[in-house]
Order: sequence, then C-alpha cells, then structure tokens
Amino acid sequence: MAMETGLIFHPYMRPGRSSRQTFEWGVQNAVACDKAGFDSMMISEHASQIWENIPNPELIMAAAALQTDRIKFAPMAHLLPHQHPTKLAMTIGWLSQILEGRYFLGIGAGAYPLASYMHGIRGEQQDTQFLNEMVRESLFIMEKIWKREPFFYEGRFWDAGFPEEEEAVTEEDEQHKLANFAPWNGDMPEIAVTGFSKNSPSMKLAGERNFKPVSIFSGIEALKRHWEIYSEANIAAGFTPDRQRHAVSQTVFCADTDAEAKREVMEGPIGYCFNRYLIPIWRRFGMMDGYAKDAGIDPAEADLEFLVDNVFVVGSPDTVVDKLNTLFEACGGWGTLQVEAHDYYDEPGAWFHSLELISKEVAPRVSLPGSKSINAVAA
Ligand SMILES: Cc1cc2nc3c(=O)[nH]c(=O)nc-3n(C[C@H](O)[C@H](O)[C@H](O)COP(=O)(O)O)c2cc1C
Repeated sequence: MAMETGLIFHPYMRPGRSSRQTFEWGVQNAVACDKAGFDSMMISEHASQIWENIPNPELIMAAAALQTDRIKFAPMAHLLPHQHPTKLAMTIGWLSQILEGRYFLGIGAGAYPLASYMHGIRGEQQDTQFLNEMVRESLFIMEKIWKREPFFYEGRFWDAGFPEEEEAVTEEDEQHKLANFAPWNGDMPEIAVTGFSKNSPSMKLAGERNFKPVSIFSGIEALKRHWEIYSEANIAAGFTPDRQRHAVSQTVFCADTDAEAKREVMEGPIGYCFNRYLIPIWRRFGMMDGYAKDAGIDPAEADLEFLVDNVFVVGSPDTVVDKLNTLFEACGGWGTLQVEAHDYYDEPGAWFHSLELISKEVAPRVSLPGSKSINAVAA
C-alpha cells in the first residue's frame, strides 16, 4: 500500500500575523490539500505560542467542512487536561457529524507549561505522569458521554454524567428528548495519540488502547524506539500492530529541481521559522541530539543547512522519493507522511506546488518496506 499524505498545521505563522490571517491560511490549506488529493489534515491546539497561534483547531475544520469533499480532519491534538470532558465530547461529536465522518481525534497532554498554567495546572502537576492521568480520566468520561447511557461519575479531576432518559410516550414527549451529539453514526471516533519523547508514555497509551500512533520525526533511533514502545504495548493488550497506521510528521518540501527546493527552504518561510523559533526549541528538547547522532556530528554544529541536507526531506520529486525510501529502509517506515505546514500566506504559489508534487508524484512511489508501491505493481 502506498504512503498516505497528511498536512499538520501548527502552523508556524511569523509573529505579527493576525488571527484572521492565520484562520484564512488554515482554510486555504484545507481546500488546497483536499484538491491535491491529501488524505488528512491535522491542526494543533496551543493557548500560549505566538508561532503556533490556534487555540481552537475545531473552528478551522468547521469552516473548511463545506468547502472540502474527501479529506479527513483531526485536531492534533485536543489537550485533554485543558477542558471539561463533556463539553469537549459534545464538540467532537457534533463536528464529526458536520463532517459526516471525515474526522478522527488527536489527543495530547500538552507540551507547553505556560498553557497548562493558564488552565490552572502548575508546579508538580505539570509532571508528565500527572498530565497523563488527566488524559486517561478525560477519555474515560468522553467515551461514556458518547455511549449515551446513564451514569454519574465523581472523578479525581472532573465530575460528569449522562441523564436517564424517560421513554417518549406521547408526541409531546418526543419534543423534549436529549439532542444527540454522539460522533457520526454513533461510532467511537478513531483516536490518535502524539508521541514526542524518546521513552514516550503517549506511545505506550496508544499501544495499550490500539490508538493511532503519531510521532514527530526526531531521528531514526527515537522513531524506532517509538515503534517498539507502541508495538510492545499493543501486542501485550492483544492487538496486532500495523505500521500503516503510524503517522510521522516531518519537514518536507518539493520543487521541480533540487536546487530550487533547497533555496526555497533556506531563504523562505521555513528557514525563517527554524532559525528563530524551532531550532532553539529543538535544542531545548534534545531533538538535535538524535539528528546529530544519525549523522555522526556534534549537536552544536547542527544548523539550518545541516537540517535541510540531512534531516528534512527536501528536493525534486525523484530526490524526495529516494530520501523517503532510504529512511523507510532504515527505520521500518510509516503509513502517513505528515507534512509540517509553514507560513506561505503572502506568496502561497511555491507551497501549493510542493503539496501537489508530494501528493501526485512522491506518495505513489513510496511504500512500507516489503510491500509494493502503486508504480512497482503497475510496472
Ligand atoms: C505530531 C504532534 C503534534 C502535537 N501537537 C500538540 C499540540 O497541538 N499542542 C500541544 O500542546 N502539544 C502538542 N504536542 C505535544 C503533546 O501534547 C505531548 O506533549 C507529547 O506528545 C507528549 O509526548 P510523550 O508522551 O512522548 O512525552 C504534539 C506532539 C506531536 C508529536
């Protein structure tokens, strides 16, 4: 099966962009990806970051719902410790109905302490383990709300319930039944979990519950470790791990020639964002160490050009196909390439051309090691 394509929209807007511009860029990307044949679009949720300035990913999805036909959407991620589970369960259910099922749900614990603080979580409560317990309780409540069966739960973090509904006897009773905000068709939405750290507790949760694993590419060793953690937990819980479900987010840019692609990334919005925002964050989270280790260099020497040549997937369609296939051989591969979106709001031409090339000329020629790509099968 050929690799699927997704966009992940954080969206790395340069400081100074208005909310209106960010929102518009989100909807434009949804429409462009749908037209180019992308399978999915994930949108982040951040309350604190200027460069990642979307507090409510569901608003972009709702705006794009009526302008798109086949692409699926997911918040990546709704941060469960930051809101009441019933309210969130209703939002998710209603949106999945509006999208008529073109929806899956990304969940996360939240990466940024300032955002946690705004939601009343501070000090020791910001510990990963504590946040993970909040995620588990929130999920427990949301699943009960979606089932629409009576319960009342007094939790450690939240209380919630679903009322007993009396059977409607008269026509008048019918007018007062509970509105149904369960996800599309009453099914549980597919749930995806983001993993980031090397010994990722999120990957363990994903494996245990058979959720879709989503990783940020942070070096071959870290990625292999994510798959190990996920598959061990998945097998222990009685499931069969499927690499096709693994989505990995990466910086990918495609142009007609290698030189053009590299120049665009070094001098355009992607380079601008990495130099100012992402390289300092990556150093802080230790992600540079993984990349440097893969290339056998000192992490202090890893700069933008190093990333463009060794870590990002940048080039003509042929080069991007070769780079991805080499990466797949080294780490086992994944099912969805989740392209990281950037701020091409002022001049979107090169960005949209890249999305077209990735979807139409790259993805059909990349597949999991051991399986055959569409082109190979056709040949
Ligand atoms: C693909 C991806 C998307 C993420 N999106 C968000 C987000 O929208 N908001 C946020 O605060 N954290 C986001 N995170 C971070 C997660 O909330 C969480 O801190 C992290 O995945 C925890 O990973 P760990 O269990 O491996 O330590 C994202 C992580 C990944 C890998």
